[in-house]
Amino acid sequence: MAGFVVVGSQWGDEGKGKIVDLLGAHMNMVVRFQGGNNAGHTVVVNGKKTVLHLLPSGILNHDALCMIGPGVVINPFVLLSEIDTLEKQGQPCDHVRISDRAHLLMPYHVRIDELQEKTAGDRKLGTTKNGIGPCYADKYTRTGIRVCDLRDWDVFCEKLKYTLERKNAEITKLYDGEPFDYDEMVQQFAGIRERLLPMICDAVDKVNKALDSGKNVLFEGAQANMLDINYGTYPYVTSSSPTAAGVCEGAGVSPKKLDRIIGIVKAYSTRVGEGPFVTELLDETCDMIREKGAEYGATTGRPRRCGWLDLPVVRQAVTINGLTDIAVTKIDILSGLKEIPVCTGYRINGKTYDTVPASLNDLASAEPVYEYLPGWSEDISEIRSFEGLPENCRNYVRFMESWLKTPVCLVSVSPEREGNIILKKLL
Ligand code: GDP
Ligand code: IMO
Ligand code: MG
Repeated sequence: MAGFVVVGSQWGDEGKGKIVDLLGAHMNMVVRFQGGNNAGHTVVVNGKKTVLHLLPSGILNHDALCMIGPGVVINPFVLLSEIDTLEKQGQPCDHVRISDRAHLLMPYHVRIDELQEKTAGDRKLGTTKNGIGPCYADKYTRTGIRVCDLRDWDVFCEKLKYTLERKNAEITKLYDGEPFDYDEMVQQFAGIRERLLPMICDAVDKVNKALDSGKNVLFEGAQANMLDINYGTYPYVTSSSPTAAGVCEGAGVSPKKLDRIIGIVKAYSTRVGEGPFVTELLDETCDMIREKGAEYGATTGRPRRCGWLDLPVVRQAVTINGLTDIAVTKIDILSGLKEIPVCTGYRINGKTYDTVPASLNDLASAEPVYEYLPGWSEDISEIRSFEGLPENCRNYVRFMESWLKTPVCLVSVSPEREGNIILKKLL
């Protein structure tokens, strides 16, 4: 039995999709356990880029069943259009399954997310406007509609009627927005239901049976620790738990079954949307990193905010996830810098901390404490052995490893599936 977990260790977009695709070749199943189509996971194979939002990044490997687990919020229209796009490109998707327990992300969730953001003024969160927060809110107020409800059409229609009345009241009265027509929405769902039904399964049973029979199962996190609903920079977070604990909750798996927990760490920091970012750069170095690293949102196209590596942030991910391994990505983007600042603490009101404070005010006033590591000038994207890397680049990796007290299993040096240096074999 081997349960593998890939999670983001910063603010998302660390390169989780690339690593999931790489490990996917050895997996019998790849499982999404939280989030929804707010994720944008990029996989590059032979120069061809595929961006996945709801489908697991193991999708290109047809031998692994691709499961969308109970903890995910599923926009069924997005799911089918993602499948259609891939199938048009000759990529079969008959190995996709969706959990009967997952919640349906409905058109009104998207509209409410958009309207909340539009009317929030200074309080806007910078969400992906995909309805994630409103859908999870309904789940926890116990008014959500689940995938299994699609099986019984009368139940589905009755729940939709009841919910839509309330949602339309919210949309029109609170936000002065456009209401939805019930009959139209019923028609929309009637049009996709037949395609969805064969994909629906008891994911908890399937995932646990796979693990119990010795199969390799990979759990693919979306977002990251700093966007976690409990441990992120609240309220500038997403509405789920993108952690190893989130696997247990969102896939119905015991913590005892998780063998390797791999945290993906970008060699610098990026963030999309609003919220505190202590090591943020606001100068031409930021532009350089953004352009060289193609730091534009894979879901929204928004320019990502860029900054230096923040080790207290990553250490929180190490602790909360219990990371067994770290995969460092995008270190190739740092080539050409004379020296590279790495944040090892924060100075707040004259005191130094090496943990991430909860309070937004503390984070806003925090000054990063930097250690300056010497840089390297060589292009490293074609290097495939650790010894082949420039000494200062190796030292950068070793510095992360010793500060975080967690082994680095892999260093990624290009977006391509093969662009890796393996330090420790995981399988
Ligand atoms: P995810 O959300 O964590 O899957 O990451 P994204 O796909 O949103 O963003 C990561 C971006 O970096 C994608 O465009 C990847 O193709 C790219 N990428 C991943 N690893 C590397 C790497 O080691 N070097 C470079 N240059 N690009 C990488
Ligand atoms: P992947 O899986 C980066 C951010 C949004 C916003 C906040 C809340 O590709 O790493 P939401 O739509 O979830 O309510 O937005 O979270 N966010 C991400 N940032 N990568 C992601 O996913 C993200 N998913 C959500 O920008 O700040
Ligand atoms: Mg992404």
